[in-house]
Amino acid sequence: MKFFLDTANVEEIKRIAKLGLVDGVTTNPTLVAKEGRDFKEVVQEICSIVPGPVSAEVISLKADEMLKEALEIAEWAPNVVIKLPLTEDGLYATHALSQKGIKTNVTLVFSAAQGLMAAKAGATYISPFVGRLDDIGMDGIELIQDLSQIIRNYNYSTEIIVASVRNLEHVKLAAVAGAHIATIPGSLLPTLWKHPLTDIGIERFLADWEKMPKKVTEAV
Ligand code: E4P
Repeated sequence: MKFFLDTANVEEIKRIAKLGLVDGVTTNPTLVAKEGRDFKEVVQEICSIVPGPVSAEVISLKADEMLKEALEIAEWAPNVVIKLPLTEDGLYATHALSQKGIKTNVTLVFSAAQGLMAAKAGATYISPFVGRLDDIGMDGIELIQDLSQIIRNYNYSTEIIVASVRNLEHVKLAAVAGAHIATIPGSLLPTLWKHPLTDIGIERFLADWEKMPKKVTEAV
């Protein structure tokens, strides 16, 4: 499974990229606005840190404006991916961009039918939002299971980016369902490698080491 970082914070990306865990980055207007920096400048800086795909979202809602914006963003860096909302205009723009060989990430996917439409339109990636579905009492992971099955059934090249990830269980179940990618907030990522028994184990090993006769430890 590939891991993308779900953030527009450059310092966070730099820190976690050093661990070799970052295959790409996803941003959205909320995450970029939080940084209070110029959109193009942030995206270009992220693209220079992470060689993998970096999603930057269009703001326009009309197909022709979306396309204009997308073509401009596509010039910002070779690894930038155009993020578009799942609307009729978004699907039109996705299809047009895919014909030009420009990579797309269709976002705000909340049903299997929507995901299927985006895959048919030629989306490089689709982003189903598990957390926001859970928030309204639905089962976000069930959507990932359905979409993984649909992509396999018809051999679509579209990859699933599990988005709106809120906990470790989301990541585990998405991986079990066969999702290609999970995009994870930097604050959540440590929960993937942390375990209380690892910490207790380290503590015990060090305590036992301290009990060793001085002479033996000196020899080591
Ligand atoms: C990523 O592509 C999405 O924009 C992001 O995961 C949404 O997460 P949220 O539902 O926590 O805002």
